[in-house]
Amino acid sequence: MNSNANIWNSLPVPAFIIDENDCIADVNSAGEGFLNASRRSVIGHPVWDQIAVDAPLEEAFLRARSQGTPLFVNDVDAGSGNRAPLQCALQIAPLVGHPGSMIMIISPRELAGRMTLGNTVKSAAQSAIGMAEMLAHEIKNPLAGITGAAQLLSMNISSQDLELTDLIVAESRRIVKLLEQVEQFGNLQKPDLRPVNIHDVLDRARRSALLGFGADMTIIEDYDPSLPLAYGDPDQFLQVVLNLLKNASEAAGPQGGTIRLRTYFEHSFRLRRSDGSGHSLPLQIEIIDDGPGLPEDIRGDIFDPFVSGKENGTGLGLALVSKIVSDHDGWISADSVPGRTVFKLSLRRAPRDATEHKKEST
Ligand SMILES: Nc1ncnc2c1ncn2[C@@H]1O[C@H](COP(=O)(O)OP(=O)(O)O)[C@@H](O)[C@H]1O
Ligand SMILES: [Mg+2]
Repeated sequence: MNSNANIWNSLPVPAFIIDENDCIADVNSAGEGFLNASRRSVIGHPVWDQIAVDAPLEEAFLRARSQGTPLFVNDVDAGSGNRAPLQCALQIAPLVGHPGSMIMIISPRELAGRMTLGNTVKSAAQSAIGMAEMLAHEIKNPLAGITGAAQLLSMNISSQDLELTDLIVAESRRIVKLLEQVEQFGNLQKPDLRPVNIHDVLDRARRSALLGFGADMTIIEDYDPSLPLAYGDPDQFLQVVLNLLKNASEAAGPQGGTIRLRTYFEHSFRLRRSDGSGHSLPLQIEIIDDGPGLPEDIRGDIFDPFVSGKENGTGLGLALVSKIVSDHDGWISADSVPGRTVFKLSLRRAPRDATEHKKEST
């Protein structure tokens, strides 16, 4: 009983028990918050006096009660005498073992939005990035002027002073590179969704890594050959994998290391949002390195923009990764101990008709 009460009050959404006379028989802590009133002051009061809903619910509610079926209503404004209405989803279901009683859960839309990781990441990134983008634009022009002036100066000065102008040029280039990464966010288009062979993407990323930043690395392929097609934008997926490979290579340092690219199918992996919607993300891609692991002090924030554990890092690589993944309704997680760091991407598979369409057109 006690643990039931704990569960009831731990539910992060407002929940109510409505008795056979349409009075409130119980309310959980989140419900008290929603009503802005205490449990004691609302129990026994008619529920529709306490909660105002801008939809003609009575009939549907009575039907649900008499037939013992659940009732879901999306996008209604619900409020109480004590607070402004919020857009909510209502879920009402018969209370098992108590004929005539119903349980009602109210999910405010705002709350629903705030509780998904993807959205949190997106909005945090958006505000920081929006600011940075504006700055990037403002800084690039004068910077070009400074670089040009330094280059002019360098034409007729002593070789000793040349070091200084070289420094100006080199540092300006570094800033321009940072600004370009910031601008990448702004230029990021909505993904052009189509069926994608993930193994092709991984292959392209692997080859390009080995020719450049990952030249000291060994990259092992561990693919499930029967993996179905993913659904997404192949160029954006390539960007994601390249960013992850780059981080793994940088973590390994000049002595190099090993990266394993692993794919597999996990039928039961689903993304659940707090508003009840959800979809299946059965394609799993893991990028596993044997480097030192995520730095302890930033491991909780690595997907935020401008969080970097490197002296010259921008902290934008993983922020871009997380933006792309959430634009694809996918999921990314990281798990790290020294010697084994895993970034796991979970993606949706291409819908059947999209696959067929693709087959016809090729
Ligand atoms: N595979 C990895 N191994 C160890 N640390 C990592 C790994 N991937 C990311 N990190 C840490 O996360 C930080 C953020 O990465 P990122 O957003 O790409 O920015 P940046 O690479 O510019 O620092 C890195 O600076 C690094 O400290
Ligand atoms: Mg990086």
